[in-house]
Amino acid sequence: MIKINEHYLKLKSSYLFSEIAKRVSAYQTQYPNQKIIKLGIGDVTQPLTKTCIQAFHKAVDEMAHEHTFKGYGPEQGYLFLREKIAAFDFQKYGADISPDEIFISDGAKCDTGNIQEIFSENTCVAIPDPVYPVYLDTNVMAGRAGMFDGQRFERIVYLESTKENNYIPSLPQKPVDLIYLCFPNNPTGSTITKPMLTSWVEYARENHALILYDAAYEAFIRDDSLPHSIYEIPGAKEVAIEFRSFSKTAGFTGTRCAYTVVPKQCMAYDNQAQPHSLHALWNRRQTTKFNGVSYPVQRAAEAIYTEEGQAEVKHIIDGYLANAKIIRDSLTDIEYHYVGGDHSPYVWVYTGTDSWEFFDLLLRKAQVVCTPGEGFGMCGRGYIRISAFNHIENVQEAMQRIQRALS
Ligand code: MLT
Repeated sequence: MIKINEHYLKLKSSYLFSEIAKRVSAYQTQYPNQKIIKLGIGDVTQPLTKTCIQAFHKAVDEMAHEHTFKGYGPEQGYLFLREKIAAFDFQKYGADISPDEIFISDGAKCDTGNIQEIFSENTCVAIPDPVYPVYLDTNVMAGRAGMFDGQRFERIVYLESTKENNYIPSLPQKPVDLIYLCFPNNPTGSTITKPMLTSWVEYARENHALILYDAAYEAFIRDDSLPHSIYEIPGAKEVAIEFRSFSKTAGFTGTRCAYTVVPKQCMAYDNQAQPHSLHALWNRRQTTKFNGVSYPVQRAAEAIYTEEGQAEVKHIIDGYLANAKIIRDSLTDIEYHYVGGDHSPYVWVYTGTDSWEFFDLLLRKAQVVCTPGEGFGMCGRGYIRISAFNHIENVQEAMQRIQRALS
């Protein structure tokens, strides 16, 4: 008899953003004439830049001719893109990352979800709360989370981010093996300083632990005293894997391109405490299960690293940050507590009420979609997340509607 992976039964019946989409679609069917403004899922609204599109078109044309056509590419990604990433995203900030430590992929969601496969089932996992649901759900699927008591999973160590700790979790009270961190944070929008990140790197080194550092929103950092990469911290190369994405940086949510950095020094241990290279393991996993990102997409991503590409991308992100400022100012006007939105597209808002009820209230009274904080974990209760990804006119209108609905 074919049996299921019963760990799947411990998951919520649908993924957070699928549940939101279902509720919004039900509301829209009931009220087809209402103009709904979506500030929920962090999906970009600005198109690919001119420079990206030109490179994309050129590469598509190359695919049309026998002498320039490309079949399977390297599973790790083309060197032309990996070289640019190493130089612009790491070496520029003093982080000594080489192109062959970079694995191009089709998304940070896939990579942050898949990476747990290379670790033991008995790994003790520390996960922030609130958190991007992928980290937790994929560990639940793999049987690493234990039983769910109605609130939390018994084997997960929750790293609480609350108003009291300024939404930056403290180091775990007990030794853990695997730590997920995300900065600028999704969902709270909070950022971490170099001294604070240094304490995590030191913790990982002392405990032979590994940090999975999700920096998908790095491009929103506008203060260079904040770390762009965990590899700016001395010693991080031995204890951290970093995830980046072109989705929010350059509008690639539909085009799909991201990358993961697995330094060659980064080790994990077998049952005899012998070290093994995570670079080799991830390479083995990717070459078996992944066939690479398409050549035209990688050429489009490469174009971001030209002078024009860098300026275009900065301009787009400045626009989203201007939206975030509109959101923050409107919340200040109505005296709501919030965090984020200064180096992040997300604003984390305290409502003090049930977050799904607040979500429904904003949908019904303002026709604005937000994300209920509870969907990101227990510490998200009483919060909502508002995303700055939309056109400025929509953000302005949405915030006027929210102000009216709440006053
Ligand atoms: C979010 O809204 O949290 C993100 O868009 C989700 C994602 O990047 O997968």
